[in-house]
Amino acid sequence: MFAQPDLTALPKPELYAELARQIAGVTDGEPNAVANMANAAALIFHALPDLSWAGFYLVDPADGGLVLGPFQGKVACVRIPIGRGVCGTAAAERRTIVVPDVEAFPGHIACDDASRSELVAPLLARDGRLLGVLDLDSPTPGRFDDEDAAGMERIAGVLTAVL
Ligand code: SME
Repeated sequence: MFAQPDLTALPKPELYAELARQIAGVTDGEPNAVANMANAAALIFHALPDLSWAGFYLVDPADGGLVLGPFQGKVACVRIPIGRGVCGTAAAERRTIVVPDVEAFPGHIACDDASRSELVAPLLARDGRLLGVLDLDSPTPGRFDDEDAAGMERIAGVLTAVL
């Protein structure tokens, strides 16, 4: 069984590099996307300090919108239209969005009252297709910075290979 080491003392670039290695390790050779996302959400949630939620919203081929995927944290909104909220905006614009204060973000979707800041990175397939987004929430305002954004983009890159 994989024992998750405590990475919280590491500087952010090293922390994300190690977390990316762990995610590559637990997903290596496993073709099931749900299993890979479930373990990735668990690794992320327990590796990064001060999170209230970590997980996936995936493009639903049935309607083209986002639908809730594997996550860790409290029960969350199931469907998010492309272009709505932080997740839908990151999906529409295919770029990572860091929101230091969710109350100041127009159209923020409040799934959890305790969420104060958020980071959403798009999951883009090698052919450029949008697969979904990876969403982190924190109860602390300003929790995420450019190093977190770069780290989550690196992790999104690892994940798109195993989805
Ligand atoms: N706050 C997000 C919705 C998803 S939850 O945070 C889990 C948004 O505005 O897209």
